[in-house]
Amino acid sequence: MTQTMTKAAELPQDLAKIVADPRSYADWDRLHQSLAVIRKDHPFARAELDGYNPFWVASRYDDIQTVARSNNVFLSGLGSLEDNATLDFAKKAGIGQMFRSIVAMNEPDHMKYRLLTQAWFQPKNLKPLEDGIRAIARRHVERLAAAGGECDFVSEVAVHYPLLVVMSILGVPEEDEPMMLRLTQQYFGNNDDDLNRTREKPTPEQAAAMLREVIAEANGYFQKISDDRRRHPTGDLVSVVANSVIDGEPISDLDAMGYYITAAFAGHDTTSSSTAGGIWALCEHPEQLAKAKADPSLIPALVEESIRWTTPIHQFVRMAAADHEVRGQTVRKGDWVVLCFPSGNRDEDVFEDPFSFRLDRPSNRHIAFGYGAHMCLGMHLARMEMRIFFEELLPRLDSIELAGEPRRTVTNFVGGPKSVPIRYRLV
Ligand code: HEM
Repeated sequence: MTQTMTKAAELPQDLAKIVADPRSYADWDRLHQSLAVIRKDHPFARAELDGYNPFWVASRYDDIQTVARSNNVFLSGLGSLEDNATLDFAKKAGIGQMFRSIVAMNEPDHMKYRLLTQAWFQPKNLKPLEDGIRAIARRHVERLAAAGGECDFVSEVAVHYPLLVVMSILGVPEEDEPMMLRLTQQYFGNNDDDLNRTREKPTPEQAAAMLREVIAEANGYFQKISDDRRRHPTGDLVSVVANSVIDGEPISDLDAMGYYITAAFAGHDTTSSSTAGGIWALCEHPEQLAKAKADPSLIPALVEESIRWTTPIHQFVRMAAADHEVRGQTVRKGDWVVLCFPSGNRDEDVFEDPFSFRLDRPSNRHIAFGYGAHMCLGMHLARMEMRIFFEELLPRLDSIELAGEPRRTVTNFVGGPKSVPIRYRLV
């Protein structure tokens, strides 16, 4: 007998709050204890939390794939879980009219926009960028050397390196880095008092206003660059997007800005967090560091494990366009489904010994890049830049350890370590 018409499995309130609350993601061990309970006892269950649209939590790897694959039923358009008050303010503030991102699009639009740059992001096309990226990586290893053996890896290296790489592929000048850094941190760090504009916990009204300001500033900045590349195209990503055609018409400014901002913001924080998460893990697992140093062919495995371990995109929410069955449960039209990537990446049915950081996984098919139609466009670039960084760092790294307690960003969306104090010796 199927469970189709039975009452929906309910996610207990305390567990639902943990999934929703941005603060949970700053307390990673406690988060994972709760996610393990959710996977075991409530693998696909519905939550009704005060102030939120009803949402299901897809905690197991297979369910995340099932939902992400069914992109014509489970629609994109929402980022992470937000309460209704915050969404209302964002709506009133007109965020949707200022910014349209490919991540939030559905078919048929989504594929048309994705195809504009899909080939550009393929490894064959990225190969010629390798020397330029290696030069940026070397400068950051030098920066570590200049810091004299003790620093915060995040503020010294991790936030800068991927940002400069993304800026180089977009074709924007390097001197604008401080401004770009501020914007990406404010965009994703809206819930983190150290990163947002008010430096205090924002009200929903302030959060919407801050987001508006950040997007307005980013739009203004990219508009000038986009106009320039329409007049003088080069091979960079802005030139590809600015001169592209959708349904026989030049791409609109709104859509072009959305593309640049998505690439800049999504390509920066994610890779930055994964690199910092990898360094943090190596400090705590010196035997894995020794393996990678002894055998550089393990560096791609180090990259994949660092991304699985850190899973910098904590969730994406989909909305059911129709009633649909998942794991014997009927998700009703209008319900939300949270794709809980950190949980999928610790799924005991898929990963042997999921809570160990190890480079010898025979196949590390983690789900940190998502799955299905929206699977990360920049994944080959992210892997390449992390590989190059470790290739430059490891031969020079004589020792490394934590020099204090690392801290994580308060966010249920995109983030990871916000400080990783390290002590090290470079040769
Ligand atoms: C370790 C680094 C990264 C991780 C973990 C990551 C993760 C993800 C995930 C989970 C998605 C799927 C969103 C969804 O299902 O709705 C995504 C989409 C996307 N990512 Fe990444 N990302 C990374 C790096 C990058 C980089 C370097 C870029 C570009 C410079 C990039 C650009 C994009 C874009 C444009 C999309 C939207 C694709 C679509 O909607 O079709 N990402 N990423």
